Amino acid sequence: MSITQAAPDVSGLIQTNRVHGSVYTDEALFQVELERIWYRGWVYVGHESEVPQKNDFVMKSIGPQSVIMTRDNTGHIHLLQNRCSHRGNQVCVREQGNARAFTCPYHSWTFSNTGDLIGFAFPDGYRDNPEADKKNLGLGTLPRVASYHGFVFGSFAAEGVSLKEHLGGAAETLDRLVRTSPEGEVEITAGFLKHRAKANWKFILENECDGYHPAFVHSSIFSVADSAIGTYYGDKSTALTRDFGHGHTEVDLRPEFRKADTPMRWFGTTEDRLPDYVAAMKAAYGDDKAREIMIDGTPHVMIFPNLFIAEIQIFVIQPISVDETIQHVTALQFKGAPDLNRRLRQQTMGSVGPAGLLLADDTEMYERNQRGAESLTPQWVFLGRGEQRERRDEDGYVVGHSTDEVPSRGIWRHYAELMGA
Ligand code: FES
Ligand code: FE
Repeated sequence: MSITQAAPDVSGLIQTNRVHGSVYTDEALFQVELERIWYRGWVYVGHESEVPQKNDFVMKSIGPQSVIMTRDNTGHIHLLQNRCSHRGNQVCVREQGNARAFTCPYHSWTFSNTGDLIGFAFPDGYRDNPEADKKNLGLGTLPRVASYHGFVFGSFAAEGVSLKEHLGGAAETLDRLVRTSPEGEVEITAGFLKHRAKANWKFILENECDGYHPAFVHSSIFSVADSAIGTYYGDKSTALTRDFGHGHTEVDLRPEFRKADTPMRWFGTTEDRLPDYVAAMKAAYGDDKAREIMIDGTPHVMIFPNLFIAEIQIFVIQPISVDETIQHVTALQFKGAPDLNRRLRQQTMGSVGPAGLLLADDTEMYERNQRGAESLTPQWVFLGRGEQRERRDEDGYVVGHSTDEVPSRGIWRHYAELMGA
């Protein structure tokens, strides 16, 4: 996709602690975001455990585009664009399956699961036509595919920073995540729910590590679930917000969990409820390390621009248009932890399932944000909370209080860099 009109200049729309409301509502800006963020940088697509066998495939997306993630018969992962090179039909409509090849439903051209065109229907019509060279008529493929702990990212750009450079300090949060498994691996096998919101994707991106809202927006689930989590988002909390750079942000609840010094508190339970899991963790890591892991819990991290790891589940953000976004959500599952996994699925249903108590509240906020942003005045969104008490942690990352707007400021700093490029 190319931009035919002059790209909007974002420099006048983003300040250190303010953004102009039009960044959430401007259709032309959304098209530039697709080009400069979604179709250029690293974007999370899927997890290797979703295509465990040779020739498995699963339907994914990058922004509004449909992408097929395949594992070929040698075990390599490919990201294919779901667009027939004949007349543009979608070659795959199944959510997932196992197939060596995809046959387009329109005129039956057939493509291998690496994207190569392998056959025309009624081939006589192409014989002796030099333009009908199969080598030039494959599916579109993403030139760069890379994974970290099985999380597969793709980039439409043939060149650019490596995935490792893109993840930077946020890679450590994925290290922290996988060690919650006695086998050191996450599995994305619980199936996805899709939640559609009439809101710009950046309201969702910013909210994922906004520690200011939970005490108000989520007070009902905190009281029903009799959960201590609410206090971690109160003004006496020792939890932190962190800006890793590259747009990646975190709410780090470990200071509170360490203060409580109780294994499995991060999950709102106790060791005696999960005897098999606790035994497997101790066998895998030794008593002391297992205890430390079970106290610290899993991360709450937003990996720019679309992978949110929310302690017990992941959300994948898919922008559809300037004011419409789908969140794909699934329970995290940890290899070698069946008793923990069952509870992770139950808690996910209770919080972000169709009748869940958590996401519905957030979605109401997203949609009200969007409607509010359509109003003309005041023109700016103010993101200055905690600016005066920001500091650097021992690794050099900006941190603040759990309710401070460190994450939003970090996201916008990175966004301005990408959009000004
Ligand atoms: Fe796919 Fe014609 S559009 S074969
Ligand atoms: Fe929320």
